[in-house]
Amino acid sequence: MPKLSVRDLDLKGKCVFMRVDFNVPLSEDGQTITSDKRIRASLPTIRYVLDQGAALILASHLGRPKGKPNPTMSLKPVARRLEELLGRPVKMAPDCIGPEVEAMKPAPGEVLLLENVRFHPEEEKNDPEFARKLALGSDVFVQDAFGSAHRAHASTVGVAKVLPVAAAGLLMEKELEYLGKAITNPDRPCVALLGGAKVSDKIEVIQNLLKIVDRLLIGGAMAYTFLRAQGRPTGKSKVEEDKVDLAREVLAQAGDKLMLPVDHVVAAELVAGAPSEVVEAIPEDKLGVDIGPKTVAAYSEVIRSAKTIIWNGPMGVFEMPPWDAGTVALAKAVAESGAVSVVGGGDSEKAIKAAGVADKITHISTGGGASLEFLAGLELPGVAVLTDK
Ligand code: 3PG
Repeated sequence: MPKLSVRDLDLKGKCVFMRVDFNVPLSEDGQTITSDKRIRASLPTIRYVLDQGAALILASHLGRPKGKPNPTMSLKPVARRLEELLGRPVKMAPDCIGPEVEAMKPAPGEVLLLENVRFHPEEEKNDPEFARKLALGSDVFVQDAFGSAHRAHASTVGVAKVLPVAAAGLLMEKELEYLGKAITNPDRPCVALLGGAKVSDKIEVIQNLLKIVDRLLIGGAMAYTFLRAQGRPTGKSKVEEDKVDLAREVLAQAGDKLMLPVDHVVAAELVAGAPSEVVEAIPEDKLGVDIGPKTVAAYSEVIRSAKTIIWNGPMGVFEMPPWDAGTVALAKAVAESGAVSVVGGGDSEKAIKAAGVADKITHISTGGGASLEFLAGLELPGVAVLTDK
């Protein structure tokens, strides 16, 4: 990696300011964490820094509180969970800046978690004075928040500029290693599986992946915009009318590299439990809700021959079973392929868990938007700002 790693630094007696992505899902009242995956993912770096004899300040956002304190988006439940996972005390700051926080600056071996940085509007504005206050005169910036590295905010970029050294944490390194290899130097054949609702959300990813992969398999509602561009019937399916011309251009550019569903599960309405059937041509009064069995078979065959698989987005309305069947079947095919598999995006991860194959996936990214921007070939500001080796 061309950027400095936390492992390159002598941290003994230093104060480390670490940006983590503790943007975890919470129950509605903000009291209970419903998935601690992101907290667990940062543990190796947290433990490493403490084992080196450093003091540790942790900073994160949670949710989108729009620059104002909001008790349902407090990081307090995260501090409690982190304490349990670490097996040592975690001090929780009442805010992320100010005299009370300054007085809590940790000593070597201690951990201080700052309150949600987005409780202040200056965070998202990447305000330099706010970044300086956040940094609390630390010696080193460590970036472990891959999931937030596409945001140029005070805690992801500003603090890195204020402190003398900015290095990647172990989670960040792992994310860059797996995602980076998949898009720069993949073992071939390299196959991408892309799903989700909108072509517009993923057009840059599609265009970049077409330059890299040997096969691009499309599913989810975005397939219907491509089918419309080919002049095929799409019935009442969700089609982005204003993206049909763009889809036509992509198809012309992609040639037979890009595969589209050849059959579909359709229903009269998008309501859980509505009767559905498998068709090859979508009737006028029906909408597509999943890929059909012939598509599953064709895509699975391509997946079986792959050495690298990049997957982002579900193949159908997988949150309404049985319309999760296509996504779950492909999750199993990916798991059984023996290929290096790199998965990004919360929905694909849920599908992989539902299929019970999470342990057979090489790397499930902690980034949603960040992994998409990375796959689109964009430079993430939270990575760009790190010190070169
Ligand atoms: C995420 O969940 O994708 C990251 O934590 C970024 O959150 P954001 O989209 O609110 O910036």
